Amino acid sequence: MDCYHIEGGIPLRGEYRVKGAKNSALPIMAATVCRAGVHELYDCPRIEDVFVMEKILQSLGAKTRWEDCCLVVDSRGVDECAVSRELMMGMRSSVFLLGSLLARCGEATIYRPGGCKIGERPIDMHISGLQQLGIEVEVSGERVTCRGHSVGGTVTLPYPSVGATENLIMAALSGDGDTIIENCAAEPEIADLQGFLRNCGFQVHGAGTDTIFIKGSSSMHCKLPPADTMYFILEDRVEAATYIMAVIGTGGRALFRNIRHELVREVLRPLEHMGAVIKRYDDMLEVVSPRNLKSPGIIITEPYPGFPTDCQPQMLTLCTVAKGLTTIREEIFESRFTHKKELVKMGANIETCGKNAIIKGVSSLSGKTVEALDLRGGAALVLAGLMAEGHTEVRNIGHIDRGYQDFDKGIRELGGLIERRTCD
Ligand code: UD1
Repeated sequence: MDCYHIEGGIPLRGEYRVKGAKNSALPIMAATVCRAGVHELYDCPRIEDVFVMEKILQSLGAKTRWEDCCLVVDSRGVDECAVSRELMMGMRSSVFLLGSLLARCGEATIYRPGGCKIGERPIDMHISGLQQLGIEVEVSGERVTCRGHSVGGTVTLPYPSVGATENLIMAALSGDGDTIIENCAAEPEIADLQGFLRNCGFQVHGAGTDTIFIKGSSSMHCKLPPADTMYFILEDRVEAATYIMAVIGTGGRALFRNIRHELVREVLRPLEHMGAVIKRYDDMLEVVSPRNLKSPGIIITEPYPGFPTDCQPQMLTLCTVAKGLTTIREEIFESRFTHKKELVKMGANIETCGKNAIIKGVSSLSGKTVEALDLRGGAALVLAGLMAEGHTEVRNIGHIDRGYQDFDKGIRELGGLIERRTCD
């Protein structure tokens, strides 16, 4: 396993181009199965989760290849409708294959993804939504098998789950009935999935709002020949926010290209309260750090357009050196303060109680050997290392590789001192 070695205290400066979004790429890769064809996905991030999804698609009969930052998926040969337990365990997002395989074959088998370090990750909303669409679902231990075609109708989600919304959109394509999904998640990545599906010739409307309409298409894709598509993956708002916070945490200044400010609005707001100056351009942001950070007050994670849970660990890190008291309340996942213990080791003053973390700003962090326990918590520890005085070693960085392409390289481009090495 590799580690990051970081010399902290250097202000990050320069320019960074934000890559394509992990949370768009994964459902869109699954969606390439919905319609046979050669699908060119531009700006697809080269991250571990994408590589696992690529293996799953290959196991189903698809062919994949990379042409620079374009992933080409040829889904014409998909002839298998079960994802193996071994591949399924590699990544939670493989659950999307339920919806896309149903759309293509009218049958799908997956293994229930287990819980993870940030809490239990049930799929009950996916399953009950599929049943409401008239799909037969059989759960046997960890195995979930679905059969049939959507009869359409209205499905009201009990909570705006991102994954359930995406899965149901794809499953709803499988029949002739039309479907309305209510109380669905409104994340921009769902609108991106809609954009891809529309490119494939399907009719999906309303993504990005809380109500989505899907026209059943089974008869359509049986008759139509394979469709070849080209699609640009949405920019990664979480990657952008992570780098922005790295710049602010180190007292630097940088220009970010390929990021629209609306997508990170709720992250920029507290950063401005903390004293950062942020200039917004069409698809660029310029970030200038204040001399000293002050507390943003209270931050509560919420479904989009609220403050994103995927940016909470990085924000918590930044608040460890912000003057005053900060309260962060995590409302989406049950245990998303996994990096607290490591930050405390580095000198942070954090108390957690249930969903809340209370952070009292200290003057500085000091470098230590710390361990990443999950993706965003791991990235947050890298930020802590960049902000700290002295040397930090972040171990177990396989978690970070799941969601950040060449994280160390990106930070070096901004002048940070970080190296990837094999752990002793
Ligand atoms: C997606 C994102 C993830 C982000 C999360 C919340 C992808 C690939 N991942 O994850 O990065 O952190 O949205 O913005 O897009 N839940 C249930 N039952 C279900 C489904 C979800 O109880 O059937 C709960 C989850 O445990 C969690 C909450 O609902 O507490 C939100 O989960 P959800 O929106 O589904 O997140 P994911 O799609 O897994």
